[in-house]
Amino acid sequence: MNEHSFYNRNKILIVGSGGREHAIGWKLKQSPKVSELFFAPGNGGTSLIGTNLDFKVLDNEGIAKWAKRNKIDLVVVGPDDPLANGMVDYLNKFGIKAFGPSKLSAEIESSKVFAKKLMQEENIPTAKFKTFTNFKNAVEYLKQQNFPIVLKASGLALGKGVIIAKSVEEGVKGLADIMVKKIFEDAGSEVVIEEFLEGQEISIHVFCDGKNYSIFPSSQDHKAIFDGDKGPNTGGMGTIAPVGWVSDELMDRIEKEIVIPTLAGLKKRGREFKGILYPGVMVTNKGPKVLEFNARFGDPEVESYLRLLKTDLFDIFMACIDGTLNELNIEWEKKFACCIVLASGGYPGSYEKGKEISGINEAEKIDEVVVFHAGTKAEKGKLLTNGGRVLGISATGNNLDQALEKVYQAIKKVNFEGMQYRLDIGKRKPFTV
Ligand code: AMP
Ligand code: GLY
Repeated sequence: MNEHSFYNRNKILIVGSGGREHAIGWKLKQSPKVSELFFAPGNGGTSLIGTNLDFKVLDNEGIAKWAKRNKIDLVVVGPDDPLANGMVDYLNKFGIKAFGPSKLSAEIESSKVFAKKLMQEENIPTAKFKTFTNFKNAVEYLKQQNFPIVLKASGLALGKGVIIAKSVEEGVKGLADIMVKKIFEDAGSEVVIEEFLEGQEISIHVFCDGKNYSIFPSSQDHKAIFDGDKGPNTGGMGTIAPVGWVSDELMDRIEKEIVIPTLAGLKKRGREFKGILYPGVMVTNKGPKVLEFNARFGDPEVESYLRLLKTDLFDIFMACIDGTLNELNIEWEKKFACCIVLASGGYPGSYEKGKEISGINEAEKIDEVVVFHAGTKAEKGKLLTNGGRVLGISATGNNLDQALEKVYQAIKKVNFEGMQYRLDIGKRKPFTV
């Protein structure tokens, strides 16, 4: 037991405004040790379970001062950019407990060059690559490669900094866009050119406390906007957990070949990792290979995961901070979960906001359905769209088909002008070598 167990009065501030942050709040609210929730800045759904605060997520000073003044017991930092901006270090300096990696540890996500070099040095399986800061050198290298090939801006680019080039012409144009035109701004000052991997992509999540770790069940996102994985990539249009074809043997390989050497490699470099390590893994016919590392919960992966988590999330967060994860037995329901995103018409391109949303209460009347808000806002008693990804409709079931049936039934109850979603979440063929 830690000191917090005796009080049952913990005040939590969650930084972010997505479906991820609503889901974290929803789960924390079930803890008898949590008394009050605050969100900075939050959304229309978080205002129903806590208090929204008008802060920007990069405002370290504003958030730290407010948290100190209001005696916040724990800050949970949701998105990648405040983590890359050192919010956890800043809060710690103020004497405030915060869940998430330090700025240096978060570089495993915010610098693809750092992540690739770490993998190379620690023999962690990943696509073969080279890094460049000079456009001419990058073009010269590109011309000698096989196609398709993958170009990545090294820094954070809202999940959009990856170009898959099918020919030399497309590759040169992509490099010019990133390095000369700077379409991803400073994120593209350094570029990774890497081998194209074939296979099926899964999401792995790991709770980490700097010494111990605990791996979640497998999950899978569907990043393209349209059915059949067509169209441009989004932040994620739907998730399932666990993934039926991912065997215990495969999870063991991922633990041994990826999770253990990554955490050890970070430690060796003085960057002990606390928080969520989330490797995106391509399962290829030569085994699992890392596509990228994230240093936070996936969104919408977490909306599926938290429907299955049995253990008190507040206890887990505190154990990650205190380095006592080994004393907790983290348990998951032996069920299946899914979450399907309802997005604004036009997303991931430009879209309109302010469309009235109806039917959420009716949707939640369906057994085992929970609706998480992302781009929504409450205004004058109405709920309006306020972003690209608007809602995440989640469900659980004894098998994946049951969960999917409930979720699609629930979606029929919800409506807003221009609403779009995928009909094929969880329908990919099992991966076979
Ligand atoms: P990342 O931001 O690195 O995860 O890349 C975004 C998406 O691009 C991934 O989810 C993959 O679908 C795809 N991708 C990234 N790297 C590769 C690669 N080496 N081979 C094939 N697809 C890739
Ligand atoms: N669901 C993808 C991500 O959170 O990066």
